[in-house]
Amino acid sequence: MSDWYTNFVNSGVGTTISKQLGLPRPAVLRRYEPGEPLLPGPVVVGTAGGGRLRDTVTAVLRDAGVTVLSPVAADGSTDGEKLGAVVLDATGLSGPGDLAAAHDFLAPAIRRLRASGRVVVLADPPAQAETPAQAAARQAVDGLTRSIGKELLNGSTANAIYVPEGAEASLASPLTFFLSGRSAYVDGQGVTLAAADVPASGDPEKPLAGKVAVVTGAARGIGASIAQVVARDGAHVVAVDIPAAGDSLAKVANEIGGTALQLDITAPDAPQRLVEHLRERHGGVDIVVHNAGITRDKLLVNMDAARWNSVMAVNLQAQLDITQALLDDGDVLKPGARVVSVSSQSGIAGNRGQTNYAASKAGVIGMVRAWAPRFAERGATINAVAPGFIVTEMTAKMPFGRREIGSRINSLSQGGLPVDVAETIAWLAQPGSAGVNGQVVRVCGQSMLGA
Ligand SMILES: NC(=O)c1ccc[n+]([C@@H]2O[C@H](COP(=O)([O-])OP(=O)(O)OC[C@H]3O[C@@H](n4cnc5c(N)ncnc54)[C@H](O)[C@@H]3O)[C@@H](O)[C@H]2O)c1
Repeated sequence: MSDWYTNFVNSGVGTTISKQLGLPRPAVLRRYEPGEPLLPGPVVVGTAGGGRLRDTVTAVLRDAGVTVLSPVAADGSTDGEKLGAVVLDATGLSGPGDLAAAHDFLAPAIRRLRASGRVVVLADPPAQAETPAQAAARQAVDGLTRSIGKELLNGSTANAIYVPEGAEASLASPLTFFLSGRSAYVDGQGVTLAAADVPASGDPEKPLAGKVAVVTGAARGIGASIAQVVARDGAHVVAVDIPAAGDSLAKVANEIGGTALQLDITAPDAPQRLVEHLRERHGGVDIVVHNAGITRDKLLVNMDAARWNSVMAVNLQAQLDITQALLDDGDVLKPGARVVSVSSQSGIAGNRGQTNYAASKAGVIGMVRAWAPRFAERGATINAVAPGFIVTEMTAKMPFGRREIGSRINSLSQGGLPVDVAETIAWLAQPGSAGVNGQVVRVCGQSMLGA
């Protein structure tokens, strides 16, 4: 399944027709392909406010095989080579006046950005500022980055990373993610890092090698894509879905050399069955992806208890019960485990006809934030991914008009693909993402809803 309109306007005849009619032309996004370079061009790194991360950033980029240019070269004075990405290190801002340097650096650099380019802004977390002026300048980075995301064209994105003092070692994984094609549909977002013991990076093409991952709702849609991407990155996948989806579940599991486990995650004995399966067959689990989810839409005034209860049971209570069972077991959840919960843009913005669904998906965010400190104590992480409009069988059921509007009202003017959600989850599951904990990463193309 893919975005028909994007495919159409980028086809030969579609390009001509859309130009003549003045129709919007969403770009074909640069998506991750194993073996491809991290970026299609060099990166320019600039600073505003001191920039204590400049050397760290340069080392990360050089390790990733990226050419790093100085700001002078980005100013148009070299051979005019287009830029793959622009990175602004705005750590050390003391007040709004320091932001003038951000403008001076970004304006000429962004003019030279290639299609599907990347802008990444690094800053200190506003919540840890020592003065109101410092907090103002740090918070200004949020508005700056989100606005750049809205101004960029041709499939380019802008995201922010907030790096507290002492969390420098946590930067490599999120920085490379935001620069790479893995983050194609992540736009206008910010993640705040924590200090963590970050293991030495292994094979960048197989970052999940040797890991065991369980993915719920893996028989189709986003879950099937998560299973495929996590397996591509090296993990053995235990694919879970309801018995009624057994045939497609077996197909997904076989294709990736994984294991199928038929299990209704709302069954009273489901957490225990899952824990036992993981312990006995696989010696434990490293990665847990709570993806299974359902919708039962109705306006609240017309919603019966069955619709309310079933959505809460699958989307929220099962995630709580399974995670609790994994924690209670003692050793089934391996050291450095990664839990990723699928939330939704509806859980952030709310949605007409989806009080049950939005409540459940907002609940997922609350759960992740509450558990993050406990996970950090064991060197583990728990995060949420909130997809916006993703082209799947779930969204294919929507009426045409609502579906078309829903998929266009974002900075990239298109719906995301299941693989975009899957890549974000696989990134959070990496050992190197140890410093990303208790975060909510939207995969929504910078949707206007709930922004
Ligand atoms: N498609 C979107 O645009 C979108 C947007 C935001 C969030 N999401 C979320 O992403 C996740 C996947 O969505 P999708 O579009 O792929 O949906 P989907 O309906 O295509 O797939 C969901 C899968 O979960 C399984 N499932 C349902 N109940 C289960 C249960 N009790 N036990 C085990 N498995 C169960 C289903 O059988 C199905 O295979 C869901 O959590 C959904 O809420 C989707």
